[in-house]
Amino acid sequence: MQTVEAGQKSATWLDKRAQYVPRGLSSYHNIIVDHAHGAEVWDVDGKHYIDFAGGIGTLNVGHTPQRVVDAVTRQTEKLIHMAFGVAPYAPYIDLAERLAKLVPGSSPKKTLLLNSGAEAVENAIKVARAATGRPAIIAFENSFHGRTLMTMTLTGKEKPYKLGFGPFAPDVYHARYPYAYRSDSDEAESGRDLERLFATTVAANRVAAIIVEPVQGEGGFIVAPPEWLRTLRRIADREGILLIADEVQTGFGRTGQMLAVEHAGIEPDMVVLAKSLADGFPLGAVVGRAEIMDAPGVGGIGGTYGGNPVACAAALAVLDIFEEENLVARARELGQIVVQRFQQMQQRYDLIGEVRGLGAMQAMELVTNRATKEPAKEQTAEIIHRCADDGLIIIKAGLHDNVIRILVPLIIAHDLLNDGLDILERVIGQVA
Ligand SMILES: Cc1ncc(COP(=O)(O)O)c(C=O)c1O
Repeated sequence: MQTVEAGQKSATWLDKRAQYVPRGLSSYHNIIVDHAHGAEVWDVDGKHYIDFAGGIGTLNVGHTPQRVVDAVTRQTEKLIHMAFGVAPYAPYIDLAERLAKLVPGSSPKKTLLLNSGAEAVENAIKVARAATGRPAIIAFENSFHGRTLMTMTLTGKEKPYKLGFGPFAPDVYHARYPYAYRSDSDEAESGRDLERLFATTVAANRVAAIIVEPVQGEGGFIVAPPEWLRTLRRIADREGILLIADEVQTGFGRTGQMLAVEHAGIEPDMVVLAKSLADGFPLGAVVGRAEIMDAPGVGGIGGTYGGNPVACAAALAVLDIFEEENLVARARELGQIVVQRFQQMQQRYDLIGEVRGLGAMQAMELVTNRATKEPAKEQTAEIIHRCADDGLIIIKAGLHDNVIRILVPLIIAHDLLNDGLDILERVIGQVA
């Protein structure tokens, strides 16, 4: 990590951070944040930033929106914690209902609330095993599902997520994800890769679930072709396998639909949510077909904090903001602006190998050579650090750490969005 020009106060905090916080917990930027609002952030020295990272896709409704602040304040005065396992309370049940109605498909749904994306994925796997009586799970190469033992095992990127942390959970298998820019065959796209896995590695009738990100987030915003997702649905139905959509990063309007699977018109058996669900309050959810969600025995799922009343109040306010401000349509609009600017930049700079994404989930993959597609890892790191120097917080992704991604709050004003894109373009021009 390279130090951005840190002010006096920031420098002191950064020294303390180095002394007391483990280095494994890395930060994209050496910025000590003081406060934030909307899509703007200020550090402890008063330096101003435009935020294109949105808490890694957690702040679709922006930093500190009044409606969330009010809902959370009211809730903290009323009930901060109870533990649903001791006695239920209204915000949990209300949110369970709203999420059950929001997830696509005609089957009745039920909702389990947890503390994070990883914990939600863990629980989706538990539910799938309980519902099918089968042990095996199929995930995809280049995926990211979290940092706990099972979710790290499911994750399809070795460094840094798995390096040195084995042994991993058994009975997890990886198939190929259709990554058109870097793949030379249509095997993954056609579903043949999955059939090969059944024939060579794990019999289909041992598989409880296939877990898939409809757009790979940490993997570099790789958009699954809708037809491929429909193929997964067909294969899963044929084999009695459950299909889990991990919408932790794509969820909540980012892709121009409330959930990304809506682009493919499929109904997953379970959907995993977190991040922008509660505007930064720790909350994850598994929403699934009622009979599947009821498979675990009584007392078999839960946790002390999952579905905490304050986090639920924040999530209910987030849903209200989405409806009232029509943020799903706004994601499509923002996406068009970003794509247009990215494509113009691509025409100017050979460094930009591909521009891709869905809705407001847009990225550019940087290469040192467009023919060989050699990943431009160092240039990518240089760009994001120079952007921070110039007042733009932006982050990378991708198997080769060479993808610049935009997860800007969907409420950002056009002028501010353009100011941020101007900074990015100027910096790319300096580095390209
Ligand atoms: C697709 C996906 N699944 C799961 C997770 C893990 O979520 P959390 O960090 O809340 O545990 C992430 C986090 O980036 C994610 O992008």
